[in-house]
Amino acid sequence: MPTSRAKITALGCYAPPGVLTNADFEKLVDTNNQWIVERTGIRERHIAAPEIATSDMATCAAKAALAQRGVDPADLDAILVCTVTPDMFFPSTACLVQNNLGATAAWGFDLIAACSGFVYGITTAANLVMAGTHRKVLVVGADTMSRILNYEDRSTCILFGDAAGAMLIEPCGPEDDGLGFIDFLGQIDGSGGHFLRMPAGGSRMPASAETVARKLHYVHQEGQQVFKYAVTKMFETSKAILDRNGLTPEDLDVLIPHQANRRIIVATAERLGLPPEKVVINIDRFGNTTAATIPLAAGDAIASGRLKRGSLALLVAVGAGYTVGASLWRWAY
Ligand code: UT7
Repeated sequence: MPTSRAKITALGCYAPPGVLTNADFEKLVDTNNQWIVERTGIRERHIAAPEIATSDMATCAAKAALAQRGVDPADLDAILVCTVTPDMFFPSTACLVQNNLGATAAWGFDLIAACSGFVYGITTAANLVMAGTHRKVLVVGADTMSRILNYEDRSTCILFGDAAGAMLIEPCGPEDDGLGFIDFLGQIDGSGGHFLRMPAGGSRMPASAETVARKLHYVHQEGQQVFKYAVTKMFETSKAILDRNGLTPEDLDVLIPHQANRRIIVATAERLGLPPEKVVINIDRFGNTTAATIPLAAGDAIASGRLKRGSLALLVAVGAGYTVGASLWRWAY
């Protein structure tokens, strides 16, 4: 049995200043603004400068979260970095962020779950805190998707952007009655792995002149397959986690979904019967930033007043793997 409840106490986000608009893509590939907006909802995405890597963006987001709460990095117990675009295979990006922050007492690791990464990360952190062994766990979702995109493939390059977001997870105090982490429901389904992947660069197909020439170090996606799976699982998982907690969609104050496609989010919200004002959509400004979409969306929900102390929030994602995760929280700050 958990010894304590866990709560999110701070949020920091970082998006690099460079922006690629749909008009910019019209000059790169055979596409147009109308197709991109109608089929995806994306208008622009942030792109990191060449000298910026995932650990740099992750560190910026982490510093913002720690500053918000006034926490000294030396007081962190653990750092989890959720990413599919680490600076390199090893050392882990968590080690790079730990060193950048000066988090001298922390352990940590990278977590690979693509677009579900952040939901898996905060759930793992909540369980470390609830076990009573950790008091301050930093979770960062960060991806530099622009480094693994083929800018000659119009079906993928227009979809993604670069960004990072970080949350701090701590034990609830006596003043937090009923607040904090409630439940998590997850699933992985490797039978769908070939529909969205980066084929080369690992032990199966190590880097070679041939793999580079065949552009196998880039995102490869069968969009319609992933779309169908996402629409089904975003709804089913959201409904199932609410059901098993005796809750209905009407009880939700805000749905914070992974931002892969506006149509996936709208379909999920409609099937749940949620009005648009309870659903966070910011894909128009950021595109799909993989592990960073959920903290970026949470940041927007806080800024617009839809997410505040006491709010019932459902964070839900579907991504490559396949990975699926839904995490239910009563917001505590
Ligand atoms: O976050 C990880 C999970 N990822 C997702 O959830 C992504 C899920 N998938 C999707 O969001 C959508 O499938 C896409 C946005 C990737 C594609 O939208 P779609 O409505 O499924 O389009 P499609 O792949 O069926 O392609 C329709 C047409 C094709 O042309 P033809 O064969 O009908 O002549 C494509 O070649 O649209 C064409 N097309 C484009 N046209 C203009 C594909 N990309 C573009 C483009 N601009 N950028």
